[in-house]
Amino acid sequence: MAFLQEIVVLGLLVLCMTAAVSSHSRHSRYTPPNVMRLTDAFSHVSIGQEYSTFFGGSNTKLLNNGSSANLALDKSSGSGLVSRNKYYYGFFSAAIKLPSGLSPGVVVAFYLSNADNYPHNHDEIDIELLGHDMRNDWVLQTNVYANGSTGTGREEKFYLWFDPTEQHHHYSIIWNSHHIVFLVDNVPVREFAHSSSYPSVYPSKPMSLYATIWDGSQWATHGGKYPVNYKYAPFVVSFAEMEMTGCIFNQSALVTSCSKANPSSLDPVDGPEFARLSKEQSVAMDWARRKLMFYSYCNDKSRFKAMPPEC
Ligand SMILES: *[C@@H]1O[C@H](CO)[C@@H](O)[C@H](O)[C@H]1NC(C)=O
Ligand SMILES: *[C@@H]1O[C@H](CO)[C@@H](O)[C@H](O)[C@H]1NC(C)=O
Ligand SMILES: *[C@@H]1O[C@H](CO)[C@@H](O)[C@H](O)[C@H]1NC(C)=O
Repeated sequence: MAFLQEIVVLGLLVLCMTAAVSSHSRHSRYTPPNVMRLTDAFSHVSIGQEYSTFFGGSNTKLLNNGSSANLALDKSSGSGLVSRNKYYYGFFSAAIKLPSGLSPGVVVAFYLSNADNYPHNHDEIDIELLGHDMRNDWVLQTNVYANGSTGTGREEKFYLWFDPTEQHHHYSIIWNSHHIVFLVDNVPVREFAHSSSYPSVYPSKPMSLYATIWDGSQWATHGGKYPVNYKYAPFVVSFAEMEMTGCIFNQSALVTSCSKANPSSLDPVDGPEFARLSKEQSVAMDWARRKLMFYSYCNDKSRFKAMPPEC
């Protein structure tokens, strides 16, 4: 009997797990574990003062005296903002409300990059939100490139535990000498360690912060099966509560200084809250990965002849 019960339990478990990645109204199902609200520790920057146009300026609207911005994608163009400063380590966050309605092929990205300065060996830390088709939800994709390692995508993909089009949710990145952590509503979903065993896979040059919306028809939704349908345009994403605290890079002096522009008792570069995950955060991360991660490059044996060293 016990054996039978186990099989039934196992069966249910498998059913639940399958449901977690195939049903499209899964968001209401989960409540994340409690975690420290890191995003509350820092002040919000003025988008008007701290960002400039990256592309598609006519599709960018600053609102509320520059404390939030609407970025649109329509048939003519996407749009994007770039931080005026470059950073070498810090804490970066935005409250994002995604476009409602069908959005296959639409990509909303909040990321760090230095491709402008290092076209051949650039670094990147990506949060990408990939638009959804009829049957699936928005997908959160995280990725890390270091020193031009664009041939080795280090993607991990997740579903979210909420509907990201209903209201703003926080998407954040910790980047320091210890690790990179991706967080959603302060729940860590991925940690990428800075290991001395393979230093070249870690982003280690100053980067700018970008907020963009663009047409990813070629790849974003089911590998490009569903392109952007401009019948539903414009696609408008709202960015608000943007935070950037850390070490600002002075390009002319080639030095970084850790910003005290946002005085806080917390130090995102070396502070204990940022140097390693707490027990509570680790538990929350395990929860998120178990319930909502549906792709990790480290499990993709069909893609790599030799697995990346950190896997
Ligand atoms: C508008 O934003 C600027 C820059 O952050 C700030 O100095 C100013 O006080 C704000 N004005 C109002 C009315 O909030
Ligand atoms: C980064 O790549 C360049 C060549 O593109 C190489 O010379 C350099 O050693 C690499 N740096 C690290 C830290 O691996
Ligand atoms: C950057 O460095 C240059 C050269 O040392 C200095 O003149 C300038 O004031 C610095 N800029 C900032 C914003 O600190």
